[in-house]
This record gives sequence, structure tokens and C-alpha cells, in this order.
Amino acid sequence: MILSIESSCDDSSIAITDINNYQVIFHKKISQEKEHNKYGGVVPELASRLHLIDLPYILNEAKKFLNKVSVIAVTNGPGLSVSLLQGISMAKSIAVIKNIPLIPVNHLYGHIYSLFIGEKDSFPFLILLISGGHTQIMRMKSLDDIILIANSIDDSIGETFDKISKMMGLGYPGGSIIENLAQNGDENRFNFPIPLQHSPLIAFSFSGIKNSVRLQIEKLGGKDKLSNQDKSDISASFQKSSTLHLLQKTTKIFKNSSINNFAIVGGVSANLYIRTKLTSLCKKFDKKIKFSDLKYCSDNAVMIGRYGIEIYKKQNFISPYEIDLLH
Ligand code: KG4
Ligand code: ZN
Repeated sequence: MILSIESSCDDSSIAITDINNYQVIFHKKISQEKEHNKYGGVVPELASRLHLIDLPYILNEAKKFLNKVSVIAVTNGPGLSVSLLQGISMAKSIAVIKNIPLIPVNHLYGHIYSLFIGEKDSFPFLILLISGGHTQIMRMKSLDDIILIANSIDDSIGETFDKISKMMGLGYPGGSIIENLAQNGDENRFNFPIPLQHSPLIAFSFSGIKNSVRLQIEKLGGKDKLSNQDKSDISASFQKSSTLHLLQKTTKIFKNSSINNFAIVGGVSANLYIRTKLTSLCKKFDKKIKFSDLKYCSDNAVMIGRYGIEIYKKQNFISPYEIDLLH
């Protein structure tokens, strides 16, 4: 079995997965959302301290499986260094004591492998990663053949959901709050810009929409003057523009790619409006679409372990003593 640890941001998570059939034997995640909510975003020092408290409690629950664990995988970046170090430090200690291999996992590859939890991987894929830290499209032909096709030139989409929620005086994380409000909103009330609409650039940008939403909130008298309907309409109109942006750039890539499999991963891929619109686009282009299970869209240790299994199979190990943050 593989033990995996994820602590790159504000979720402390540990999983144990069967290496042979990819079945999840144990998974627990403690989210710090409530604690960061009062600050309107993640406070790194607080996140680190909460990992220090929560990870050992989760490990204690996983303890009964530890004698069956023959390898450990841990996220070593990208993420908040003070958070990552808590997970890495725990993983190193267990690996040294048990004298078993330790595999450092790039968090983004973990998100990609959230597609293959409980199952064998398959390629090629075009993958849209939409999370709090990233907005990217990658082409993946195999484990060792991943290229970045499109990236955000400024903010990520998840960060933009979070910032707009904060601008309206709502909580953190903003993604699901905005998605819920949008259900009762008029998506055509405000015309927020669709970024890079007339640009040939295959890239994403969200700072323009964010500023336009800020100006609209000011026009309506500031966040304290917003009615519930205003908040819903802003949410729906913002969700519409940012989704159209994803659709336009994905369309450009579809037109130039013969790869027929498309997948969406990352925390924002839990958004049902975005899922529905991308599913329709795939139908139009005759592409097959794949999502991660809703419970594995946001950060979790299961996806880290699932990717770790692939590295374990290659027996591509370095000494646990050498493992450091991803640079
Ligand atoms: O993948 P993730 O858990 O962490 C990173 O690797 O960044 O993604 C977290 C992001 C947050 O910005 C959160 O607001 C967003 O995912 N998110 C959503 C939804 N659920 C989470 N965004 C839009 N709609 C949602 N339903
Ligand atoms: Zn993530």
C-alpha cells in the first residue's frame, strides 16, 4: 500500500491506497476553510500551524494500516512553503523510521491523476486544470510527456472566484458561494469583459474581469449597499464571462488538436455550470470528456497517492534525505 500526504495549502489530508488495484483504503481530510474565512483568504502562518495540529490526528487514524505501507508519496510543491514543509517533514520521518521509499509529488500531477482514482490511467488527454493556483491547458501523451499549451498570464480562475466573493463581503473560499448565488442570478444583467477575446494568444487572463467586477460593485454603492439580487446577478454574470473565456480558448486548442479526450481537473472543476458548458463544447467537437469524482476535485491526498503509484512502479527513487521543496 502507498501512504500519501497533502498539505500544500489549507487542507490537511492523508490517504492509503492499494498499489495493485488502486482502491482507496483510507482517506481523511481536515479543511481549514472556517479558520481562514475570517481573514478572507489563506493566511500561510495559520495554515502551517493547523497542519501541525491536524496531520498527526489523521495519521493516528491511519495507524492501523501502517504495517502494510511499503512506500510514501508527499506533495512537495507548488504551494505554500510553510504548509508543504509540515507534510514533507512528517513523510520523511515515517520513511526514515520504516526504511521505505519516499516519492515527492508535484501537486499539479496529483490533480491530473485525480482522474484515475480507482482505475488504470489512459492517454492521450488534453487537460484543463482550473484551481486556486492555476489555470492551464496541458497536453499529456504519457506520464513523461506533458506539455503546457496555455497558462494564465495573471490571476488564476479560482483566485478570481475567491477575490470576487471577498469584494462582495462573502466568505472564503468563494467558488461554491458564487456558484450557488449565480443559480438565482441574471447572467445577462452585467456585461463583464471576456478576456483576450480578440487576441490570438492561447492564454488565460482574469485580472480584467476582476477589475470590471470591482468597478461595478463601486457603481452600485459598495459591498454594503448590494442587495441579494445584486450579488446573485454579479455572480452569474461573472461566472458567465469567465466560462466563456475558458470556452473560447479551449475551442482554439480543439481546432488544432487531434486528441479526442478532454478532461477538467482542480477545485474549480467542481463547478457544475462550467462542467455543463464544457460538456456541450466537447459534444460539438466530438471529444470525450472526463471529470474527477466531485470529492476529489479539490486538494486531497488520494490523488497524490494515485500519482505516486505510477512513480513507484517505475522504481524511480531518490533518498528521502534528499527530498526538498519543489523549486
Ligand atoms: O484545487 P484546489 O482545491 O486548490 C488549489 O490547488 O488551488 O482549488 C481551490 C479553488 C478555490 O479557489 C475555490 O474557490 C475553487 O477551487 N472552487 C470553486 C468551486 N469549488 C471550489 N470554484 C468555482 N466553483 C466551485 N463550485
Ligand atoms: Zn490543488
